[in-house]
Amino acid sequence: MGPNLIDPAILHRQATQHAFDLDTIPWAQGIDPTRHFAPEAMAQLYHSPSYQLLDADERREFSRVVGLALAEMFIYLEEILLVPAVGTFMAKRGDRLSPDLRACLVDFIEEERKHAEMFWRLLELAAPEAYPTRKPLIYGARPIKNLGLQVMVRLPEVCLCWLWLALIFEERTIDLYRKYQAAPEADPLFASVHRYHMQDETRHVSIDQHLLAELWDPAPMWLRRLNVKLLSGILGMFTSPTTSPMTAVDAVIAKSPRLQARRADFERDIAGLRENMAFQQAHYSREVLPRTFALMDRYPEMAAIRTALPLYTPVAP
Ligand SMILES: [Fe+2]
Ligand SMILES: [Fe+2]
Repeated sequence: MGPNLIDPAILHRQATQHAFDLDTIPWAQGIDPTRHFAPEAMAQLYHSPSYQLLDADERREFSRVVGLALAEMFIYLEEILLVPAVGTFMAKRGDRLSPDLRACLVDFIEEERKHAEMFWRLLELAAPEAYPTRKPLIYGARPIKNLGLQVMVRLPEVCLCWLWLALIFEERTIDLYRKYQAAPEADPLFASVHRYHMQDETRHVSIDQHLLAELWDPAPMWLRRLNVKLLSGILGMFTSPTTSPMTAVDAVIAKSPRLQARRADFERDIAGLRENMAFQQAHYSREVLPRTFALMDRYPEMAAIRTALPLYTPVAP
C-alpha cells in the first residue's frame, strides 16, 4: 500500500460502525426562520465591497440561497457524478480490487445515495415553495454540461478528473462543518445535517486516495495532463462562481427593490471572485483543503491546476 493510505479493512469497519439512520437527524425541530441557512462568511460576496450595501435582513436572505446552493451542490456532485463514476469503475474493474476496497466502494455508493436523500429532505423542509418536486432550483439542468458529465461517468478510467473533484468537494465538507459549528447565526438543523455529512466524507477522502492510487498513478503523463486541463475547466465554475451568487443577488433584490440600482456593483464583484483572494482563501485554500493540497504536491502535473485554483502553490512533499 502507498504512503498515507488507510487500510480499506479499517475504513469498511468504520463505515459499518458509524452508519447513521436518516431518522436520527432532528428533522422535527424544523428550520428557524430567524437564522441563516449558511454561515454568513460563506456568502460568496462576503469579502466584496457590495456586501456592505446589505442590511441584516438582506444578508439573511442572501444566506438562504447560499445554504440551498450548498445542499444542491452536494446532491449534484455526489448523485450525478460520483455515484455513477464509482459504479462504472466497479463494474469494469471491481474484480481486480481487493475485497476490502470493493466493500469500501459499496459503502461509498450507499452513503452518497443516503446523503442525496438527506439533502433533498433538508431542501424540502427549508424551502418547500422552491422544491415542489426534486428538481434543483439553483443548479438547474444544463444540457451541455450534463452531456459532458455523462461522457465522464461512462469513462471514469479515462476522464480521471473526477478523482480530484471528489477529493476537493469531499474534503470541503469538513471545513464547512467547522464553519457551521462556529457560526451562531446558522440554523441548527442545517448545521446538524452538515455534521452528519462530514462524518462519512472524512472517510470518503481516504477512499479517494485509494482510487487515486488505482487510477491516477498508473495513467500515462499525457492523460494526466489532459485531465488537469479538464479539471481546470470544471473547477473554474466553482472557484469563479456566477450562478449561485447571481441567484442570491436576484433573491435579495426581489425582496429589496432599492438594491436594483446597485445591480452593477454586485455583478462587478461576482465577476471579480476569481481574483478575490479573501474569497479563495475562505473556500479553496490549503487551510480548507489540507489533504487534497498535500496530495497535489505529490504530482508535479497538478501545478497547472493553478489557473482554476489560484491559491494552489506546490510545496515540496
Ligand atoms: Fe456525500
Ligand atoms: Fe462522499
